[in-house]
Amino acid sequence: MSSTKDFSLSFRETTLYFGINSTERISRSIKGFRRALIVTGKTSAKKSGALDDILKILNENDIEYTIYDSVTSNPTVDKIEEITEKGKIFDTDLIIAIGGGSVIDSAKFASVILSIGGNPVDYIKRKIKPVSHTFLVAINLTHGTGTEVDRYAVATISETKEKLGSSIAYPNISVDNPRYMVSLSPQQTLFTSIDAFYHALESSIVESSNPYVQDLSEKSAYYIKTYIQVAMKNPSDIEARYWLLYASMLAGISIDLAGTSIIHGMEHGLSGVNPSLEHGAGLAIIGPLFLPLLYKAFPENSWKVMKVLDPSLRPTPEDAEKAGKILDEFQKSIGFNYALKDYGFDKEWLKDAVEAGWRIFEPRIPKDKFILTKEQVYNMLLSRL
Ligand SMILES: [Fe+2]
Repeated sequence: MSSTKDFSLSFRETTLYFGINSTERISRSIKGFRRALIVTGKTSAKKSGALDDILKILNENDIEYTIYDSVTSNPTVDKIEEITEKGKIFDTDLIIAIGGGSVIDSAKFASVILSIGGNPVDYIKRKIKPVSHTFLVAINLTHGTGTEVDRYAVATISETKEKLGSSIAYPNISVDNPRYMVSLSPQQTLFTSIDAFYHALESSIVESSNPYVQDLSEKSAYYIKTYIQVAMKNPSDIEARYWLLYASMLAGISIDLAGTSIIHGMEHGLSGVNPSLEHGAGLAIIGPLFLPLLYKAFPENSWKVMKVLDPSLRPTPEDAEKAGKILDEFQKSIGFNYALKDYGFDKEWLKDAVEAGWRIFEPRIPKDKFILTKEQVYNMLLSRL
């Protein structure tokens, strides 16, 4: 596969522009807006060149702007309130998020609060329905989360350390431009691609999955397997970036349609209590632990994606343990060698993580297939310390 052709598509409420010339295409969509709030982190928007591209477009369209550039990874609800406040003071009618998952997710929350009111926890705890939002443009800077095409946003409640995903808002316009991916470090490339891989895998496994999701997910896994090492060895390989970005976008649609599994459920517990743990790293550490259980319960579904890693796998419960090993070996082969202690976890911290993650994890246990208690999960995670 060598084409890197530009294209656009509509998924639910989002129009996505994809490709190396995609950024300029937002110009038509933002005509008529007056005041833009740009939401970003400290460095990636500048380093990738995306911020300069957007400022040029805003200037050409006579749109005033202000910049909030303090989003950090695993954002808390306090950060979202800061963004909202800035948007309110500036009287913004357009939000442009330039960043990865943390930036786009924070902007999704802010866009809803600016339109309806309330605070992030009201939406996380479903006290208020997110029925409208300020016009939101997402300029995606990683090939991992898929948040540019899904309705989810993740935020951590500061007091309880609960990191919870909510169905919040689709961006109105999204840009997936592979040019912005070349400034991702090899480690970011690894972790974000692993995130996308788990979106593909988990959305394929869960009971809510369907043939459409599984076809998207299988393709997504194929492109990740094919291109991840190319991009890690040569970060500026635009073709590899194009297909990794394409893979993460497909997997983003997959999770929007089918959701994720207990693996994402417990990862949110881990990175919720320890924000220094990258989401993709958390998934890779615990994924091979839970996959055999899922494979045994849903062999056909699990096989659809896992066969991409090893065609000798069979869609039978007997291959469950083998699937766990194959996943572990794949991760090692692409350079993932971390354990929880590398991020400072000890036994106590692990207990807190299980507690914090339980709220998302527990409802995702397919209870007609297997049961897990907090103690069992804690004991499983001990082997990954
Ligand atoms: Fe994820």
